[in-house]
This record gives sequence, C-alpha cells and structure tokens, in this order.
Amino acid sequence: MLILNKEEMWQAVTLPEVIEAVEDAFAIHKSGWFHMPDRMVAEQNGDKLMYMPCFLDSVISTKMLAEFPGNPAKGLPYLSGLVILNDRETGAVNAIMDGGTLTAMRTGAVGGCGVKYLAPEDASRVGLAGCGVQGFTQLLYACEVRPITEIRLYDAYKKDLGTFIEKLRARMPEKKIEYIVCGDARELAADSDILISATQTVEPVYPDDPELLRGKTFIAVGSWIPDRRELPPAVSRLVNNIYTDLPYAKEESGDLKIPLDTGLLTHDRVKYIEDLIADTKAGRPHELSETRCFKTVGMGIFDARAGQLVYEKAMERGIGREIEW
Ligand SMILES: NC(=O)c1ccc[n+]([C@@H]2O[C@H](COP(=O)([O-])OP(=O)(O)OC[C@H]3O[C@@H](n4cnc5c(N)ncnc54)[C@H](O)[C@@H]3O)[C@@H](O)[C@H]2O)c1
Repeated sequence: MLILNKEEMWQAVTLPEVIEAVEDAFAIHKSGWFHMPDRMVAEQNGDKLMYMPCFLDSVISTKMLAEFPGNPAKGLPYLSGLVILNDRETGAVNAIMDGGTLTAMRTGAVGGCGVKYLAPEDASRVGLAGCGVQGFTQLLYACEVRPITEIRLYDAYKKDLGTFIEKLRARMPEKKIEYIVCGDARELAADSDILISATQTVEPVYPDDPELLRGKTFIAVGSWIPDRRELPPAVSRLVNNIYTDLPYAKEESGDLKIPLDTGLLTHDRVKYIEDLIADTKAGRPHELSETRCFKTVGMGIFDARAGQLVYEKAMERGIGREIEW
C-alpha cells in the first residue's frame, strides 16, 4: 500500500495531467458508468464530517473530509481529511493520500476546465475573491489554461496577502505575472476578465451591478449549501446559461437554487459543463454569451479519477512510501 503526503502528491502529477483526469471524470459522469452514493454528513455544533465513496470501473475511492468552520480564525485549514483508494477487483487498499490536497488539486482543475472551456482565449487578467486553499489552486490552473499576466486578489478577512503571493510566485517561477491586491470586490471585478470566487460567504461577493460584471467569466467554487451564494442576481441576468457539474447542484448551492426559486434563472438555462466539453471536443462548440459562468459543487468522481492518477503516476515515478500492514 502506498502512502502519499501533500508534497509527494504534487510531485507525482503535472497540472495538465490533472485537468485531463478531471475531463475524464466529466466524461464518466456523462456516460453513467459509476456508482456514487449521496454524500454522508455527520455534524456536531457546525463541525462536519463528510464521507464520499465512489465506484468507477477501474477504482474505488472514499474521501473523508472534516470541515471545521472555526479553523480559519485559528489560522488552521478549513478542510482536512483522507482519501482511500481500493482495488476495483479485490477491494484491497492500494493507497492512502491527503484528502485536503486532493480536494484542492482536483477542485482547481475543475475550475481550470471552466476557464478552459468558457473564458475567451485571450483572457489575461484573473481576479480571485477568497485567498485561501481552494483559491490558490484555482489560480494555478487558470494560469495553466490562459495567458495570464495579471492576478488581482481580494480577501474579506486577510489583508496581508504577501505570503499568498510569494507562494504563487514560487509555484509559477517561469510566468511573468503582476500581482495586485484589491481593497474590495468592486475593485477586483473592475479590471478582471475572469472572476473566481472560493469563499464561505453567505451573501454575494460582488456588487449587484450589471455594468461592472458584464463580459466577465465567473467561476464560482465556494457555495455548496442552499442559503450560501457568491454570485449576485446580475450574473443570472447577464448570462444566457449557467454551467454546472451535476443536477444536484441546483438543490445544493444557493448560487443556483436562489435564482431558480426566485424565477431569475430557469431550469432550461442551467447547462452541464460535461456537455460543453464533449461538444467542444467533437467540434460542436456552444454559442456563448458575452458574460459566462461556471458553478461547481464537486463530486466524488473527481476524487476517484484524480486520486487514481496521483496513485498511478506516483507508482510509475517511484514517489511515496510503500508499507505492509
Ligand atoms: N466546489 C467544490 O468542489 C469545493 C471544494 C472544496 C471546497 N469548496 C468550498 O470552497 C470554499 C473555500 O474553501 P477553502 O478550503 O479555500 O477555505 P479557506 O478558508 O482556505 O479560504 C477561503 C477564503 O475566503 C475568504 N473569504 C470569506 N468570505 C469572503 C468574502 N465574502 N469575500 C472575500 N473573501 C472571503 C476567507 O478569509 C478565506 O481566506 C468553502 O466554502 C468550501 O466548502 C468547494
């Protein structure tokens, strides 16, 4: 059995490999060849434990995450956990890896797919609201799929983003990128082509101002609870369609549920990014409006497919520690 920590997981794979694995995961979801029971959640005083098993043809994965809302105030990660990969034939445990790292790695690549398939080819300015764990990897993948030269950053609670910027520079030493820290979300939105949000906010991150938001590509990562939303009503008004990852997102995330409940968005205008990816690959690109939006809530197939990639590449490249029970 292979054990992989955070550094080893990032050493094992490249960003394009993870994006490809996530595109595979979308294709698997579209094909229906998977078994993904509903996420099980155990909760006490707002602290949550989530269990997410998923069976694919070639691997079984279970992600166990602890989401502790009090952690950021203590300077600790909001999410932590484990991923277990079982052999599909025998159930034997093949690998154990860091669940927080796999989440950030695959969620970044999912957002990266949103940027790859929705943002204009020449989009060069990306704005991030929420400079935490997910936001960091969202930026890595955005820079992988578009010629980014400016990164704008805004965080409602962290004012000193020096360390965050230093870590980004260290991960992308070859890229010439200007970093700009913004005082509020209006300033962030004003000069960004792509706007990524990865926060725990309840109220929308951006001002509800159509003139400010018109023509942007939104990637919304944070909300997976019906009464939390990152996107203001103007986004539903500006886009033709909002793309998402699976039908359940319409019930789970306030970014879809609230505009659907209030009639601002209609079910026929919620589209699936797996169709956009498949159609684009087949040479049938969708007609996109000037303003574009992808809302992701995540699913176990991403963990299974990305975890399998990390495991296989680590074995191939001799990374990690093998142990006998
Ligand atoms: N879509 C998915 O698949 C997926 C996967 C993992 C996590 N998430 C969600 O993403 C969110 C972020 O997770 P994380 O692990 O990066 O947390 P984190 O605490 O590391 O980072 C979140 C950052 O957002 C900032 N923030 C909070 N409210 C804000 C606001 N209104 N405006 C600007 N900044 C704000 C916080 O100060 C923090 O720095 C969580 O809600 C989490 O549940 C989604």
